[in-house]
Amino acid sequence: MQGIHMLETIIRTRRSVKPESYTNEPVNDDIIAAMLENAQWAPTHARTEPWRFVVCTGAGLKKFAHFQAGLYKSTTPPETFNQIKYDKMLSGPVKASHLILIGMKRQSTQKLPEVEEVAAVSCAVQNMLLTAHAYGVGAYWSTGGMTYHPDMRTFMQLEAQDQCLGMLYVGNYSMPVAEGKRGGMQEKVVWLRS
Ligand SMILES: Cc1cc2nc3c(=O)[nH]c(=O)nc-3n(C[C@H](O)[C@H](O)[C@H](O)COP(=O)(O)O)c2cc1C
Repeated sequence: MQGIHMLETIIRTRRSVKPESYTNEPVNDDIIAAMLENAQWAPTHARTEPWRFVVCTGAGLKKFAHFQAGLYKSTTPPETFNQIKYDKMLSGPVKASHLILIGMKRQSTQKLPEVEEVAAVSCAVQNMLLTAHAYGVGAYWSTGGMTYHPDMRTFMQLEAQDQCLGMLYVGNYSMPVAEGKRGGMQEKVVWLRS
């Protein structure tokens, strides 16, 4: 199949590129649009297309940063409140060019098991990560901050049965990224031939 080497190279050289490595140069919205369009082509059982995204950029990054830091402060007892964590929630998002909040929307009938909808969203996110990498743009899936707090749903205009699955940081970068590391595949696979 033509293109297989290109596909393997894109898959295997993709790395998580974190906000600390981003330059100030914004990522073109057209690249974000291509990432979102490719997300739409992820496999989806019963074609539920459960992925939902909120794209924060410009002042939207600040708005999200203040929301998550405020949520952390208002829901954390003073004895466990961590100022460094709070400051990171304020300063992290604004280092990105775009921050894409990742949501999973359940069918009102809940006809599919939740795990299948999460799996479909994960496939969509991988499509976005690979697209960003193919454009030479850095991206990284984070489940930090207030990802699993129920109020994230409100910010993302999701409903009670839906779930935030994290955020995709996106930014241009100039430094070379560290080489990827993976264990062996053999011990994770069983072949049945008879
Ligand atoms: C569902 C999911 C959640 C993740 N959340 C975090 C996170 O909160 N913090 C973090 O440093 N990395 C997070 N990562 C990125 C992993 O750390 C990263 O993929 C792993 O170290 C392998 O590196 P690579 O992506 O460069 O191959 C997450 C990855 C996935 C798939």
